[in-house]
Amino acid sequence: MIPRHRSQVSFRCFRQRARSTFPLGSGATAQWNDHLSMRASTLPWCLRAGEAMILIMRLLVLGGTLFLGRTVVEAALRRGWHVTTFNRGQSGADVPGVQALRGDRTNPTDMRHLAESGAWEAVVDMCGYVPQQVLGGARLLQPVCDSCVFVSTVSVYEGWPAEPLSEAARVLDCPADADEDFGPPDVEDGPTRYGRLKAGCERAVLETFGAERTINVRPGVVLGPGEYVGRLPWWLRRIAAGGHVLAPGARDRSIQPVDVRDVANFVLDSLVAGTAGTFNITAPIGRDTFADLLNACKKVTDSNAELVWVPDDLLRAHGVRQWSELPLWRTHRGVWQVDSTAAHSNGLKCRPLLETVAATWEWLSTTDQALINERSTEIGLSRQRESDILASLA
Ligand SMILES: NC(=O)c1ccc[n+]([C@@H]2O[C@H](COP(=O)([O-])OP(=O)(O)OC[C@H]3O[C@@H](n4cnc5c(N)ncnc54)[C@H](OP(=O)(O)O)[C@@H]3O)[C@@H](O)[C@H]2O)c1
Repeated sequence: MIPRHRSQVSFRCFRQRARSTFPLGSGATAQWNDHLSMRASTLPWCLRAGEAMILIMRLLVLGGTLFLGRTVVEAALRRGWHVTTFNRGQSGADVPGVQALRGDRTNPTDMRHLAESGAWEAVVDMCGYVPQQVLGGARLLQPVCDSCVFVSTVSVYEGWPAEPLSEAARVLDCPADADEDFGPPDVEDGPTRYGRLKAGCERAVLETFGAERTINVRPGVVLGPGEYVGRLPWWLRRIAAGGHVLAPGARDRSIQPVDVRDVANFVLDSLVAGTAGTFNITAPIGRDTFADLLNACKKVTDSNAELVWVPDDLLRAHGVRQWSELPLWRTHRGVWQVDSTAAHSNGLKCRPLLETVAATWEWLSTTDQALINERSTEIGLSRQRESDILASLA
């Protein structure tokens, strides 16, 4: 168990002092091993091994068992960090190596017990959807966590998905203490309650931790191993099955999915660097196209599928549901025009799309398919609908 005390020296000061504490060439490797064994009681440790600065932090992840949270946890453990996860134990298995605490974030008593059980350099809030709950949790955790990463979404923008967006764009209005029923119902192709409430959650974290201690990340579409929503898995399985595959819209339509591992690295690197602020997290605008994605699926599945590109208008005429029935197909101008220059300038590195597709196929091919989420049931076009639409092309 981690002793309940707050670092005498704040993490920020610690980072500044680190270079002089462990100068290069002072037997860093031996110190590294010694300090690793002591880490639970004396974190954070900061070492230099070779040219690399190594920080070992205590990280608390609210969630951490499914996809993005799980990937953050795995990446932090690989860095030698001490990771505590907090969840109900319902959605997925604990990552081996974590300190797993059970509780429900909607229950104030559970949150109080959590706050009493440790001190951490950072908390990553992966599963905040209701401002009132996020606010309550943040108030309890703020005294025992130096900084907070809130995982938000591009859906907080008033103009998403209609308009190109940067972090300067207007965000949906939602108070920091809103409950889950706050605001109007979803608007077709416009603001969603999910996005509005996430905006309120962002505000709750910012008001509690303050701007200097908050990293607010707004990912667009996240893909990669573990993607339980099932967007890329659907395309991979469809293309692996071969034959004539309906490919939606323009083959050169720009897309910007980001790899889950790149989001995780950005979060951890930002904590190490002491970054604060709000960041859209997407691949660069214009780097990849829909054809790149589907051709990557062909390549990694070694499929002889033939892509048949069907214009947007025809798909609309057939009433194909955008985003879900044909995953990732959406015609709105702003969907794939999210400016993430700020994140890229602050260290976000996006691996090639082919790597994301290959790793997802590898994951699909090696898991027991136990990861079936209710959201994945909304995904995908039936083979009958596909053939009907393709037949209407002639
Ligand atoms: N996927 C995307 O394309 C995308 C895009 C933009 C933003 N995001 C954001 O990314 C985040 C989702 O990440 P993820 O699902 O991959 O994270 P994750 O941390 O891997 O999984 C969600 C975790 O939340 C826990 N949880 C849910 N309800 C809880 C509760 N009441 N109390 C305690 N724990 C609870 C779940 O465990 P239990 O159920 O066992 O409690 C699970 O561990 C969300 O904030 C979402 O808005 C995702």
